[in-house]
Amino acid sequence: MGTKERILVSGGAGFIGTHTVVQLLKDGFKVSVLDNLDNAVQEALDKVRELVGPQLSNNLDFHLGDIRNLDDLEKLFSQTKLDAVIHFAGLKAVGESVANPMRYFDNNLVGSINLYKVMAKYNCKKLVFSSSATVYGQPDRIPCVEDFELKAMNPYGRTKLFLEEIAQDLHKADQKWRIILLRYFNPIGAHESGMLGEDPRGIPNNLMPYITQVAVGRLPELNVYGHDYPTPDGSAIRDYIHVMDLADGHVVALEKLLQRNDIGCVAYNLGTGRGTSVLEMVAAFEKVSGKKLPIKLCPRRAGDATAVYASTDKAERELGWKAKYGIDEMCRDQWKWASQNPWGYQSKP
Ligand code: NAD
Ligand code: UD1
Repeated sequence: MGTKERILVSGGAGFIGTHTVVQLLKDGFKVSVLDNLDNAVQEALDKVRELVGPQLSNNLDFHLGDIRNLDDLEKLFSQTKLDAVIHFAGLKAVGESVANPMRYFDNNLVGSINLYKVMAKYNCKKLVFSSSATVYGQPDRIPCVEDFELKAMNPYGRTKLFLEEIAQDLHKADQKWRIILLRYFNPIGAHESGMLGEDPRGIPNNLMPYITQVAVGRLPELNVYGHDYPTPDGSAIRDYIHVMDLADGHVVALEKLLQRNDIGCVAYNLGTGRGTSVLEMVAAFEKVSGKKLPIKLCPRRAGDATAVYASTDKAERELGWKAKYGIDEMCRDQWKWASQNPWGYQSKP
């Protein structure tokens, strides 16, 4: 297989980034990763190289750098011809964004604006952007359809909303931009090899990393936030998606971006279209891991919606993409990663 275009993957050392880089390399793309390692470690990219083998590893290069720093971007773009960008780099902790909004506006907004300035200067106007289901806020109806009115519930969500609008404006002003906005629902799971996975710093905020750390004995019990929701078992419902399905979604979006000049600026949901409750997720994880997870029923978490899941029709119709994996496979691969790497990429501190 000959090599294809060279893709800049910002934030490519992170959770979704590493899984996507593996699929890009396997698909024949050349990949330049730019990451400041704020929420990642270089060992993750070593694992990517190990997974794809020495030959495809030659198509991967890593640049330690920050999208907030124009010099870092200039250096990369002036030395390397980049054909498109998959832009993952950003901060994503909702609670932290409420406590420290400027950190989020600086990193996510200023960083992305810098990136787009340099992309435009070097005439690299093809972009896949990491958006989030957070732009639906607490939806009035489910499933969430791409043309719903968008809302932001917190500073993190506001950065995603603004960045979607900025992308629309860029395209309106200059039709050479081709932009695909991917709205992820709840990414979980890990590479099927057990070599790559999510490795959050500190106490996890999100459900699956928390469950994982309880299962490996790093945390004593899971707090189940809310058991009086109007759902069959009283716990909240979300659309969990396997990170490998998400990675494949990026590859198909990129292929479309490279092939078609009539993309415009368009948003797609990446979810499974199926909802799973917190208690169903606990049960599924217990089944694959053989571990009993101690739980504590707690009050609802502020700002949480009862049920959120995606309409996947548009992605199926226009990208030809559909999630392949269900909850059992997500839990299986999450457990494989966690049981092989209970302390993530690093050994026990
Ligand atoms: P992650 O934290 O694992 O990856 C983000 C990467 O970006 C990290 O490697 C981090 O070091 C890097 N980074 C952060 N700021 C940077 C900067 N200024 N310059 C260079 N690199 C920088 O997170 P993830 O889960 O892989 O998420 C990737 C993207 O997807 C983010 O934009 C996130 O907001 C979005 N997203 C994630 C989820 C989720 O639940 N994981 C859901 C919806 C959207
Ligand atoms: C969170 C983010 C959202 C982001 C999404 C992507 C918040 C408020 N929202 O969504 O912006 O787009 O991740 O993945 O953080 N839960 C527990 N116990 C826990 C952790 C979570 O019961 O220890 C429950 C939550 O109350 C929720 C469900 O599990 O009902 C999922 O929570 P989480 O994994 O944090 O994702 P979201 O809140 O859906």
